[in-house]
Amino acid sequence: MKNFTLIFMLLLTFLSCKKDKDVITTPIDQFGTYNPTYILPRVLTYLPPMENPDFNKMTEEGVRLGKSLYYDNILSTNGLSCSSCHLRAQSFTISAMGPVGTAVLPHVNVGWQKAFGWNGGENHLDNVALADLAEGNPFLEANNDSILNRFKRNKNYQILFWKAFGVKITEITLPERQKYISYSLAQFIRTLISGDSKFDKFVRGETALTPSEMNGYNIFMDDNRGDCYHCHGSAGNPLWTDRDYHNNALNSSFTGVDQGRFLVTGDPADMGKFRSPTLRNIALTAPYMHDNRFATLEDVVDFYSTGLQQSPYVDPLMNHIAQGGAQLTASDKADLIAFLHTLTDSTFINNAAFY
Ligand code: HEC
Ligand code: HEC
Repeated sequence: MKNFTLIFMLLLTFLSCKKDKDVITTPIDQFGTYNPTYILPRVLTYLPPMENPDFNKMTEEGVRLGKSLYYDNILSTNGLSCSSCHLRAQSFTISAMGPVGTAVLPHVNVGWQKAFGWNGGENHLDNVALADLAEGNPFLEANNDSILNRFKRNKNYQILFWKAFGVKITEITLPERQKYISYSLAQFIRTLISGDSKFDKFVRGETALTPSEMNGYNIFMDDNRGDCYHCHGSAGNPLWTDRDYHNNALNSSFTGVDQGRFLVTGDPADMGKFRSPTLRNIALTAPYMHDNRFATLEDVVDFYSTGLQQSPYVDPLMNHIAQGGAQLTASDKADLIAFLHTLTDSTFINNAAFY
């Protein structure tokens, strides 16, 4: 009991001596030893393992930190967190437009992409959040002094960073701090893996498709009808994207963000090209296209059926451009949409590991 009182008195003295009452400096013994548990991303049928780079190998502790930051507005001055725009129930996107005139991209199987953003402007997932943390960026309106001060007041984060990376987050330089924040977010995003849609189960022989869904898939795969598979995957490519850039005949003239990949490469051949979006969870992610112009999947299918816009930049894989579209019948359109609904993975959006 005496010892207890003594410690209490010492603590009081210590606290009253502190200059900044808000600053919590975690004593060294509370950090514990740095001994992370390495983990591997889940494997999906037909896909090579997801990238897990040597400089940022996934660990339980890194993912835990990334998840915590993803849902926390501690990184922003505008009150937003990553999860404000990337909503789990909508496959980690949102119906609203982003701040720079592009739709919010979902976070599903993102770790398999080769470049990031609608036009592939960022080459490394590990660096994606660095842009968000730059001062003046409209996404989080981050202020690096206030982020540092919040970490100084937050013992929990000081411990989480230590356990994930063996660093004292309040004592390292700004670029290092930003790096570890970004690395942990990348680790969490790499865990957002979906492989349990009705169609995945069909491929694994665990369930059957209805005749309408099956016909829809055949239309998707048929050069003379839907002709979607060149760009949007197939049973053998469960990413439901070729991860490449195409001009899918949305526009006949191009200004601003509509210029797409041209803004990254400056090559006129890239005018109006965007990365083929994944169709996984597509029924959850309305509205559609880089500018959210289509409210429903019916609108999208009508566009591919009769709404294509001629321009010198249309992708050669748009086989039906001369006729203005695939000219699908009403029942073919309905079947195609029924098939697209089989790509919804409700176990993914309800996975308790993700929140
Ligand atoms: C204000 C809304 C908003 C917030 C907040 C936000 N994002 Fe995004 N995010 C977007 C938009 C919009 C895009 C698409 C941008 C583009 O390519 O034009 C995007 C794209 C991405 C991508 C690329 C996905 C792909 O498939 O290429 C990643 C990764 C990402 N965000 C991660 C994050 C992380 C991590 C945070 C938190 C630090 C965050 N986002 C916060 C709106 C937001
Ligand atoms: C030549 C490649 C190509 C073909 C063929 C193609 N698409 Fe696309 N698709 C794209 C690209 C690129 C985008 C994004 C365009 C944009 O936003 O400007 C897109 C967008 C979409 C979207 C909206 C995705 C989202 O998240 O907003 C849907 C849905 C879609 N396509 C379905 C189909 C269907 C169904 C077919 C067949 C009838 C088809 N696509 C054929 C390349 C293609």
